[in-house]
Amino acid sequence: MPFPLETDRLLLRCFRSTDLEEFHAYRSDPRVAQYQGWDVPYELETAQAFIDEMKNSQPGTPGKWFQAAIELKATKTLLGDCAFHIMASDTRQAYIGFTLSVAHWRKGYAEEACRRLLDYLFGELNLHRVIAECDVENTASYRLLERLGFRREAHLIENIWFKGSWGSEFHYGLLEREWKKA
Ligand SMILES: CC(C)(COP(=O)(O)OP(=O)(O)OC[C@H]1O[C@@H](n2cnc3c(N)ncnc32)[C@H](O)[C@@H]1OP(=O)(O)O)[C@@H](O)C(=O)NCCC(=O)NCCS
Repeated sequence: MPFPLETDRLLLRCFRSTDLEEFHAYRSDPRVAQYQGWDVPYELETAQAFIDEMKNSQPGTPGKWFQAAIELKATKTLLGDCAFHIMASDTRQAYIGFTLSVAHWRKGYAEEACRRLLDYLFGELNLHRVIAECDVENTASYRLLERLGFRREAHLIENIWFKGSWGSEFHYGLLEREWKKA
């Protein structure tokens, strides 16, 4: 297995039991959860179950999300996570997602982690296309996607009932040849 993946500052590695406290802390932050699929308060037991499941997951299993921990090499701090999900119906396409704890926003860590993840997906797993979806109000997320070279392919209007109201989403796509050319 190719994990961990490394960048100048980061290690993208499998989750382990000792991540529980930091993982639970950032998932419990309402600013981090605002546009994500979980609610706060985020229970410690839920965090534990997530880590247990991830510890036993293999990256690249079609139909399942694989969540990699993002660790700062210099201090071994857990900064957040990034994830991918290869479509069960088409194994040359995958969704990606990313989350950082607020203390580590705006330092370029998410971009650095995603660039390595995309190199892995296109270069090592030989994917054809990577997809990302985000809330239209999630500016940090779509700015990151656009910096990475993703193309906004759809603006869906009130397509999702999300945390008590109708939400609208942008859908983004990036092809292997576009990534390699860039
Ligand atoms: C989405 C999310 C990961 C983006 O994090 P981020 O830190 O803004 O993203 P990046 O790593 O690309 O950092 C870019 C910022 O760091 C700045 N930066 C500072 N040092 C940098 C460096 N060495 N290299 C690159 N950028 C750097 C950039 O200028 C940019 O700042 P700006 O937004 O003011 O222009 C973060 O907002 C988050 O975790 N949100 C909550 C979870 C979430 O909603 N996830 C997405 C669901 S779809």
